[in-house]
Amino acid sequence: MATKNITVLSGDGIGPEVMAQAIHVLDAVCDRYGHVFNYDYQLIGGVAIEETEVPLPEATVQSCKSSDAVLLGAIGHPKYSDPTMKVRPEQGLLAIRKELGLYCNVRPVTAYDGLLDMSPLKNERIKDVDFVIYRELIGGIYFGESGRSDDNTYAYDKCEYHDHEIERIVRQAFDAAIKRRNKVTLVDKANVLETSRLWREIFDRVSEDYPNVEKDYLYIDNACMQMILNPRRFDVVVTSNIFGDILSDEGSVIAGSLGLLPSASIGEQYALFEPVHGSWPEGAGQDIANPFAMVLSAALMLQYFGMLEEAKSVREAVNECILSGYLTPDLNSSNGKSCSEVGKYISELLTSNTLV
Ligand code: NAD
Ligand code: IPM
Ligand code: MN
Repeated sequence: MATKNITVLSGDGIGPEVMAQAIHVLDAVCDRYGHVFNYDYQLIGGVAIEETEVPLPEATVQSCKSSDAVLLGAIGHPKYSDPTMKVRPEQGLLAIRKELGLYCNVRPVTAYDGLLDMSPLKNERIKDVDFVIYRELIGGIYFGESGRSDDNTYAYDKCEYHDHEIERIVRQAFDAAIKRRNKVTLVDKANVLETSRLWREIFDRVSEDYPNVEKDYLYIDNACMQMILNPRRFDVVVTSNIFGDILSDEGSVIAGSLGLLPSASIGEQYALFEPVHGSWPEGAGQDIANPFAMVLSAALMLQYFGMLEEAKSVREAVNECILSGYLTPDLNSSNGKSCSEVGKYISELLTSNTLV
């Protein structure tokens, strides 16, 4: 039996809806295994701007730093969609990642047997796909100097990487590969970008410490195509912040819905777990969002806690939903269940002991 303190950042749009289901599922895990999870709800994103005028209040940062892990739903609201606004929800997300030093963003992409028909891609192409994207999360063009000229005719975003920022994520990727299928693909644009050429140098140097791991390289444009054409070629993909962002949404097409992809963001001291998807403002308030990505992010948190059996049981419960067709409308358009019905179903599977 363990006690854990978890900071919960539900955020905007569908964030609170999927988070509520993840918390039900975690409560069911506590029932089943005798753990105690204490939740500290804090503000981030648009809701934080509404209440405190800033997207990341200091109280949120303090809570995250004093808890065992952070769960995040999603941020973003159309009210702040004008990109020239000074204060925006997205700044809160970038700031918490930076503040907690979450450099390693792990985004697994899985093709579930029960969902092969949900992907627009052919079954034989996507069957058994199982790869993971290691996305650098607190550097690159997202965090470089940016600005505009006074007359608004010029803008710039600087892309910068230091060797140590590259090395730590590349090492994480190789460490992951030796526990998987021993292959790491570096995705970059080394035919054009100087930062990418530094990535290649560091990648080659680190790879010498992993002689049994196969390495290869793909330019980002080709990688986007290969991910659709031959996704089974990937095991671990390691890449920069912006390329990882784009590739992971593309990966969700293999899985069948963006509502399926979880992620873990890990640093030296802290860890945060959030879906790959955003706040889907058009879907908010209708109880139609797929809670799987959030629930599976909670499972990654359990794994981080060392609760391996607990994490596995959550994944099995999700798989059971998939096999029985108990799915939200993104995956079952004719007989879709609501977000809360699916969350309840997963929780009941966990408490009723019907899982093997
Ligand atoms: P989005 O991920 O919110 O939605 C894109 C599409 O994906 C939706 O139209 C919907 O069809 C589908 N989708 C997303 N989540 C789903 C779910 N749980 N179940 C079923 N379908 C789902 O991306 P967007 O529309 O480009 O962005 C909306 C807002 O979210 C923006 O403000 C953006 O900045 C923000 N955003 C936040 C995060 C985050 O908090 N980590 C991530 C991405 C985007
Ligand atoms: C993600 C999102 C964020 C990102 C945005 C909302 C800042 O798209 O987590 O994938 O680009 O990192
Ligand atoms: Mn994204």
